[in-house]
Amino acid sequence: MKFSISSSILAILPLASFAVGATLPLESRQTCTLTCGNVQDSLPFIQSFSQSGTDHFYTTSTTENAQFAAKGYAAQGVAGRIFPTQEPGTVPFFRLFNAGWVDHTYTANQQLRSAEINITKPPYADDIIAGYVYLDGSCPGTIPLFWAFSTSITDSFFTTDLAEYDSAISSGVYNGQGVAAWIYPAA
Ligand SMILES: *[C@@H]1O[C@H](CO)[C@@H](O)[C@H](O)[C@H]1NC(C)=O
Repeated sequence: MKFSISSSILAILPLASFAVGATLPLESRQTCTLTCGNVQDSLPFIQSFSQSGTDHFYTTSTTENAQFAAKGYAAQGVAGRIFPTQEPGTVPFFRLFNAGWVDHTYTANQQLRSAEINITKPPYADDIIAGYVYLDGSCPGTIPLFWAFSTSITDSFFTTDLAEYDSAISSGVYNGQGVAAWIYPAA
């Protein structure tokens, strides 16, 4: 079970959900609408897949997407929309790369990022910040980005399509890891 450590850490560290409302002073409630980013600033989170590396890859950069296409990554459309720069209410969506597994993974969870780097064997390494995302669904129009991981082909797969997520799990190839982030739909 290559992924048991990360999975168990994720289980005890659910993504933060912020209780807003009755217990907050009026001033806080009035500013709630300001804690969301402007969806018009979001960019497509472009998805591709390498058959040889069994690696799903996601980027907001059309330049980087073209570079990966040249390396043999096949276009798979758009997974959703995320922010290229930090907006109100968002956190970094870290991209990590595991050279041993040829796996790019993405997380908004700092503890999980640390575990992937310091505990998972072979280890992941910090790559870049892929963009900025929400930790919960409190901003209007956001949807969950689901994360599935395959131990057999060592691939992290992300989708906002719940049916696709369920299908990946029921295929027996992937294990459901839950919600990685909240983002905007592709269209
Ligand atoms: C990994 O562990 C080292 C040593 O404890 C620590 O300094 C470093 O911050 C950790 N890395 C991450 C990403 O947490």
